[in-house]
Amino acid sequence: MSLRLEQIGHGLRYSTRMNASSHPNLTILDHPLIQDKMARLRDESTTHEDFRRLIGQVAGLMTFQASRDLPVTETNVRTPLEDVVAARLSAPVTLVPILRAGLGMVEGIVALMSEANVGHIGLYRDESTLKPVTYYCKLPAMIAEGPVFLVDPMLATGGSAIAATEVLQTHGCKDIRLICLVAAPEGVEAMAEAHPGVRVFVAALDRELNDVGYILPGLGDAGDRIFGTR
Ligand code: PRP
Ligand code: URA
Repeated sequence: MSLRLEQIGHGLRYSTRMNASSHPNLTILDHPLIQDKMARLRDESTTHEDFRRLIGQVAGLMTFQASRDLPVTETNVRTPLEDVVAARLSAPVTLVPILRAGLGMVEGIVALMSEANVGHIGLYRDESTLKPVTYYCKLPAMIAEGPVFLVDPMLATGGSAIAATEVLQTHGCKDIRLICLVAAPEGVEAMAEAHPGVRVFVAALDRELNDVGYILPGLGDAGDRIFGTR
């Protein structure tokens, strides 16, 4: 497999025909700590145990950056010494993993936002058509009142993320942020076309999809590597 790594800032990135400036709604979160963990996630010799731990850590680091501009409201707090004006999040945040691989990202994110509500959308890709099939949806009643972090490690054709976003929009969600560890240019393009208002945060923008819809160089089947099913 021929790969080209480009030096961008302090980091290295796989060469694709696309970069973050191609899509204003795409942000590549390539902090050195994220890149280091991504290298270990990609490594085929990484065990399920390490894979699970690393995916949670990357998800947490990404959420820290993707939540940078969450709205806050001033509130009065009494410290043991005096009154102070402090800031709290204005609205409850909801985390929505796309089952099943998105579940691997939940623990690392709720470690940062323990008050977040968690909804679930169950989707799988039909292996022959690559089209998403929805099999489950359970979302918090007040989900439309605050920002939603939709999480899935892989954005390949984009079909699953597009379908999950449609479910969220049907429930009235407006501030939807998609967090994926690895994206293919094809998925980013499809998502931007279907849902231009959704911001997409990725740790790595890879080269392309192969002929069975897997991301190259990618990290393989995320669900199988998290749950040890293959
Ligand atoms: C994977 C992944 C995404 C989807 C991405 O899930 O976790 O949900 O594929 O592909 P797409 O962008 O082409 O839709 P998969 O369907 O393998 O199900 P799983 O999470 O149950 O393993
Ligand atoms: N789903 C995965 O888990 N990996 C890919 O590369 C594409 C879809």
